[in-house]
Amino acid sequence: MNRVTGNLFIALGLITVQTTLTSSLAQTAVPPVIGGLQQHSDIEPLLAGGILLSELNCTACHSSNKKWLSFKGAPDLSGTGNRMIEDHLKEFITDPAGTKPGTTMPNLLDHLSEAERNQTAKALAHYLTSNGSGSVSNQNTASDSVERGRVLYHTVGCVACHSPENPIEGSVPLGSLESKYTLSGLASFLRNPLLTRPSGRMPDLNLNHEEAADLAGYLLRNQTRQVSPFILDVQLAEQGRILFNKHGCITCHQNNSGGEANQSIALKNLRENEGCLSNRKGNWPRYALSNEQKSDIIEVLQNINLRLNEEQEIQTTLTKFNCIACHRRNSYGGIAESRNEYFSSQDPNLGEQGRLPPTLTGAGVKLKPAWLRQILVQGAPGRNYLNTRMPQFPASHLERLMVLIDQTDQLPSVDPISFAKINDAKRAGRDLTGTDGLNCLACHTFKGKRTGAMGALDLTVMAQRLQRDWFHQYLLQPQQFSPNTLMPTYWINGQSQKPEILEGRTNDQIEALWLYLSEGYSAGEPRGLRREPMKLVSTNSEAVMLRRSYRGIGKRGIGVGYPGEVNLVYNAEQLCLAMIWRGEFADPAGVWRSQGHGTVRPLSRNPISFPQMPELAFLDRPNADWPTVQGRSEHYQFNGYTLDEQRRPTFRYHYLNVQVDDNFVETLNPESGTHFLRRTLVFKSISPQKTLVFRAAENAEIIAKNSNRFQIGNNLRITISKEFPAQIINLKNSRQLRVPIHSNSEETSMILDYNWEADRK
Ligand code: HEC
Ligand code: HEC
Ligand code: HEC
Ligand code: HEC
Ligand code: HEC
Repeated sequence: MNRVTGNLFIALGLITVQTTLTSSLAQTAVPPVIGGLQQHSDIEPLLAGGILLSELNCTACHSSNKKWLSFKGAPDLSGTGNRMIEDHLKEFITDPAGTKPGTTMPNLLDHLSEAERNQTAKALAHYLTSNGSGSVSNQNTASDSVERGRVLYHTVGCVACHSPENPIEGSVPLGSLESKYTLSGLASFLRNPLLTRPSGRMPDLNLNHEEAADLAGYLLRNQTRQVSPFILDVQLAEQGRILFNKHGCITCHQNNSGGEANQSIALKNLRENEGCLSNRKGNWPRYALSNEQKSDIIEVLQNINLRLNEEQEIQTTLTKFNCIACHRRNSYGGIAESRNEYFSSQDPNLGEQGRLPPTLTGAGVKLKPAWLRQILVQGAPGRNYLNTRMPQFPASHLERLMVLIDQTDQLPSVDPISFAKINDAKRAGRDLTGTDGLNCLACHTFKGKRTGAMGALDLTVMAQRLQRDWFHQYLLQPQQFSPNTLMPTYWINGQSQKPEILEGRTNDQIEALWLYLSEGYSAGEPRGLRREPMKLVSTNSEAVMLRRSYRGIGKRGIGVGYPGEVNLVYNAEQLCLAMIWRGEFADPAGVWRSQGHGTVRPLSRNPISFPQMPELAFLDRPNADWPTVQGRSEHYQFNGYTLDEQRRPTFRYHYLNVQVDDNFVETLNPESGTHFLRRTLVFKSISPQKTLVFRAAENAEIIAKNSNRFQIGNNLRITISKEFPAQIINLKNSRQLRVPIHSNSEETSMILDYNWEADRK
């Protein structure tokens, strides 16, 4: 049984029988699913009602000045045509709950006659699809990509909210993604869900390009539908724009249609069993509410002047964002039994703490406010042994939560402790940390290095994350904070096991550890820290890939180490070959040690670097200035890469309408017995009106050896296929090797060989 129908099946089983049916809708439709409410029905009905009013956007039309009832918002519909399929939009607009059971979007067209409804939905879908290039296409996904996507889906956290392949009741529905999205549309949605769904209910899971593509491939694995090209009908689109405003779409989907939100009766004046809460059709949205949902909403309408206390407000936010799918706070929330098996670890030695997200109990006294913010909004390094990721949410929606958590949690403070000589105290802290002291290294990493059997949270980020009072009290009694922790109690009954350090004074020892760890990454290394040489090399016959920051290239570098000891970094932001070198591949220790902020070091003394700017441009004259690009340019769009059987990549991107496939393979030179790098560029649909130019190299010294072979500086020789005569262009301080790409056909390919032979004269 496929996942989607599985969901539908289960969801249908949940409907409570309604007795006063007057509309066909109520009979068949699945009530809207709010993830946090489904999993945790222990919340008070009043809070549940308030959450429904905001998650179902009731307050978009029935205004209220209560913050906790403010409406969640709806997807941003600009660029719709770039990711979704017109036919599906039409079906969805005609009957949202029928097309996507459990959706939170109501039916706005229910009161129209069938013919009118169909015509209206058609115009609306056409208008929305016209927002975007409409150039959607379907591609098939390689089966290994689908498999990787399946693993990611079931490990990184998607199934905390959505259903795994074995369906689980009460999951946030995905609907029939196959009929809704194109592959590239879904992948770019997943890479940056907050762009299209700014409410943040679908958070950002920090997926890189490849992961997003794999997940999209998996989610669309059953897609067979062929997308027909979009043909714009200006009149129909304009009609759709007007209807978009007329039917109140604009009230929830704020966009550039030129309309204004329609306000109805204020929330506090609503009569309970009328309008949207009745089962009648009328000039109002139709929600497929269950009886329980209705009664929860009525609970709020009857207590409209009630004020929430701080903990209730916290619970409401944790439920709206479904933080409680992964976290527990006091006795509220926590991972559902049925989803527990999907939380897994990279380090089984660490037990449950190595597998499960941390508790939010006392988070306000534990974490420094700046760290709390960072972890919610930007992502912060920490427990990289958990396979589940902490998602990222939009800051604006969580400001209040951060303040509340900070205000509500309480912990007695620890008196200040001063030392005559602070450096002596720090040295004591270092001794305690090392293998001759309390040996924290047995379980914790230090500057990313792992010494003992376990690699729990890095000690050099503790002081950056934690508050001093908490640190003191945690070290005294770790069990009190997490009952099953592996973290030992070192000061049993307040007695130190190391009487020789700071005369065995417990509080002084803990403060000394705190001061020492407050030095963070610049703390001197404790005794016994193992230095691991870290090296990544291509073994056997496959290439290895490392997508990280590289010095001078930026964080969108993609390094590839080939068998045969040739290596490269491709710059996926500027879309150019960034660097090549021979020998071993790379040392990623810089990245691991600094928890993701450092750079990868190529294992070569003299890598050859190229300018970090696009390699392709349309130029008016052969010697025109080369265009520069700031940040990500809309003219250049990276589309990821594919891998061949030896896992060698072909990078793909668009420059305006030109599609480029850029492939690199190592190639043996039989004379020297060494390898060189062969690059094949394939250009598709070049506009014949302009001259497309490829920039092959830039250097103070470029010498033509013959018509297609060029010496670049001392170490590099580039050979270009004969059909493409290259030109050496003199610039102010250097020279460029440029290759005009003339083409009369749909597809043109060019081969470049990068040879290091020249340095071995
Ligand atoms: C797109 C706008 C819109 C949204 C969203 C909306 N409503 Fe309404 N609602 C209306 C309109 C329009 C009426 C009819 C009254 C009127 O003409 O203003 C109405 C009427 C009502 C009434 C009857 C009011 C009365 O006293 O006659 C209730 C109760 C109600 N809505 C509850 C809700 C609830 C609960 C939600 C969310 C689940 C909701 N509405 C969402 C537009 C909306
Ligand atoms: C914290 C809960 C949560 C997590 C974790 C989560 N999602 Fe979602 N997801 C949601 C919610 C809620 C929505 C609907 C959002 C809305 O109403 O705007 C959604 C929407 C979506 C949609 C859009 C469905 C549509 O109809 O267009 C897709 C696709 C999706 N999620 C996939 C994923 C994938 C893949 C992952 C893991 C990488 C994931 N989600 C992780 C809660 C979550
Ligand atoms: C009460 C608020 C509300 C109103 C009014 C509303 N929508 Fe929606 N709409 C939503 C929500 C919430 C979603 C997300 C639903 C989901 O993911 O299940 C959505 C989703 C959509 C989507 C899919 C977008 C995506 O990126 O996946 C389209 C298209 C859409 N609405 C069109 C319309 C049109 C057309 C109208 C007017 C007829 C309309 N909506 C009126 C709340 C609303
Ligand atoms: C898909 C599961 C998931 C969801 C949903 C989720 N988190 Fe997390 N959260 C995690 C994981 C995993 C970590 C551990 C991150 C680390 O330390 O590397 C974490 C860490 C945290 C921490 C740091 C705790 C500590 O002691 O270090 C806070 C605070 C936090 N989350 C708050 C939230 C809030 C608030 C929400 C909702 C807005 C939320 N989380 C939603 C998985 C989740
Ligand atoms: C036997 C293994 C072990 C030893 C030895 C050990 N720890 Fe821990 N420690 C852990 C584990 C496991 C955790 C929980 C990690 C997690 O939440 O992912 C932890 C958590 C902590 C935390 C709380 C971090 C947080 O954010 O929740 C601090 C602080 C800490 N350890 C400091 C130390 C110090 C200082 C030492 C040496 C004096 C030490 N640990 C020795 C296993 C150990």
